[in-house]
Amino acid sequence: MDKKYLLSIESSCDDTSAAVLCNKKVLSNVVATQKIHEQYGGVVPELASRAHQKNIVTVVHQALAKANIDKRQLSAIAFTRGPGLLGSLLVGTSFAKSMALALDIPLIEVNHMEAHILAHFIEDDEMKAPPFPFLGMTISGGHTQIVLVKDYFDMEVLGETLDDAVGEAFDKSAKLMGLPYPGGPLVDKNAQNGNPNAFSFPKPKVDGLNFSFSGLKTSILYFLQKQTQQNPDFIKENIDDICASVQYTILEILMDKLKLAAKQTGITHIAIGGGVAANSGIRARLKEAEQTLGWTTYIPKFQYCTDNAGMIGIVGYLKYLEGFQSNPNIAAQARYAIGTST
Ligand code: KG4
Ligand code: ZN
Repeated sequence: MDKKYLLSIESSCDDTSAAVLCNKKVLSNVVATQKIHEQYGGVVPELASRAHQKNIVTVVHQALAKANIDKRQLSAIAFTRGPGLLGSLLVGTSFAKSMALALDIPLIEVNHMEAHILAHFIEDDEMKAPPFPFLGMTISGGHTQIVLVKDYFDMEVLGETLDDAVGEAFDKSAKLMGLPYPGGPLVDKNAQNGNPNAFSFPKPKVDGLNFSFSGLKTSILYFLQKQTQQNPDFIKENIDDICASVQYTILEILMDKLKLAAKQTGITHIAIGGGVAANSGIRARLKEAEQTLGWTTYIPKFQYCTDNAGMIGIVGYLKYLEGFQSNPNIAAQARYAIGTST
């Protein structure tokens, strides 16, 4: 097949990323993670936008250099149009628009949420692509969604969070335990030495396939307040058990909804993505479900789980094959529902 090189740009939140693809293969995937937010315990939108402006030229340059591709070899430029923080999206959008105009090549908009799901179609020896139809679950710091994927661009959101995202539930719980931001990976690490049944937290009662995580955070707060009143060293002495119990509750919530989705749709091909897909507990639970529930599960490589331009590039390439081209006057869109891009 004809070799086509595509540059993709992602700037929806706090990671500035650029990738170069050759057809479905990722040649380079450069991510500049903004450290500035750590001291604030969460992403500060204005600072994120400024950091994108500072990073984007270098990141794009590095992606081209690592792939050993000259910009004149590019056939198209894909970029994240939304959803995300508007100030952040504007940086990637403006950059992609001007570069495509200067090179006189097609500009292709990509929906970030579709990209998390279609990341499974990146050609890589360590990954396998799910067959259609499959269930996609995107779990990250900004998103929690279960999606019925009938085809590349035929998706239906079956359920999503009504409040906090699952990554936020990890990070906010970690913060209550005095762990630094982002606390998800630390909860995971401590949980591996703890007893998941040491403490129990209530699971939210949410109908259907939607999620809610804000109540969990409140119940952990009250629990820790009560315990530390009796023993000021409670958290320090029980950190592994608290992390294991919190993680267990979060994983139960995710698994319950996935089981319901599989039951309702009759689909047993389950593909997950997003930063929380790095969690060792969810990975183990999915592997277990292959044995106990007969599911086939798909987890992308870590670099394609967290926000990255590689996943934007694969969607860009799939759209390119269909002859899709964005209007050169296109604007970034902070709110951007799945299935409304083409
Ligand atoms: O996809 P991502 O990099 O960025 C967003 O789009 O939000 O996800 C980041 C989220 C953070 O909330 C982080 O704490 C969580 O993913 N995370 C984890 C783990 N690794 C990252 N949560 C639990 N266990 C992990 N191992
Ligand atoms: Zn994301």
